[in-house]
Amino acid sequence: MRQKLVVGNWKMHGSLAANQMLLAGIQAGVAGLTGVECAVCVPYPYLAQAQQQLSCSAVAWGAQNLSEQAQGAFTGEIGVAMLADFASRYVIVGHSERRALYGESDALVAQKFLRARSGGVSPILCVGETLEQRQAGQVREVIAGQLNAVLSAAGIAGFAGAVVAYEPVWAIGTGLTATPEQAQEVHGAIRGLLVELDASVAAGVRVLYGGSVKAGNAAELFAMPDIDGALVGGASLVAEEFVAICRAAAL
Ligand code: 13P
Repeated sequence: MRQKLVVGNWKMHGSLAANQMLLAGIQAGVAGLTGVECAVCVPYPYLAQAQQQLSCSAVAWGAQNLSEQAQGAFTGEIGVAMLADFASRYVIVGHSERRALYGESDALVAQKFLRARSGGVSPILCVGETLEQRQAGQVREVIAGQLNAVLSAAGIAGFAGAVVAYEPVWAIGTGLTATPEQAQEVHGAIRGLLVELDASVAAGVRVLYGGSVKAGNAAELFAMPDIDGALVGGASLVAEEFVAICRAAAL
């Protein structure tokens, strides 16, 4: 059985003082939970703080982006070896904000996915459609295109133990959540696409849902057979909310 995974995506929020409180609250709140893995993806400057504060806890940490390059003259970029230096377990790849605001293409996202894997940090690959694409009936086509770009670069073997996050763009930060049935339909399609290539790899891939996940809607989402956890934005900045979501995923 796949262990549930709940990841907080802090986006560009936080300060040393605020993080200290937030991490302490999460650490205390999730202690002793079983059947769920919890993680926070923090802004780069706070990786050291996350490592220091969470090392002796069950909470993992990671980053929200990385360079597709290994190292070199790439001003302002962050390499996977640097993330590994701070014992990052995860890195978010291809978040819709990076695709939309920073022009990240499917091809670049695929390169970042490969770079993370080769550096020993698990990529959390984000896919998702816009409202216009949903209204035009293109959901499966869009998701398949985003997934296939990475599959053609990494192969199905590159998805062994991987994490995919389905984040409908129209549900991010809007308070509009996909219904559990709407989400399950896409999660099932993602799994189906992977099953066609390798059923045992597909069975091990955790597919998270993201988009206005809150304490109040987490349990019904987690009850769906192909929803293996959540990628949480706004609610991950409030310890009690994030802890409640982790609890909803626990056994
Ligand atoms: P919200 O939970 O704030 O909608 O953000 C979702 C998200 O983008 C997580 O990566």
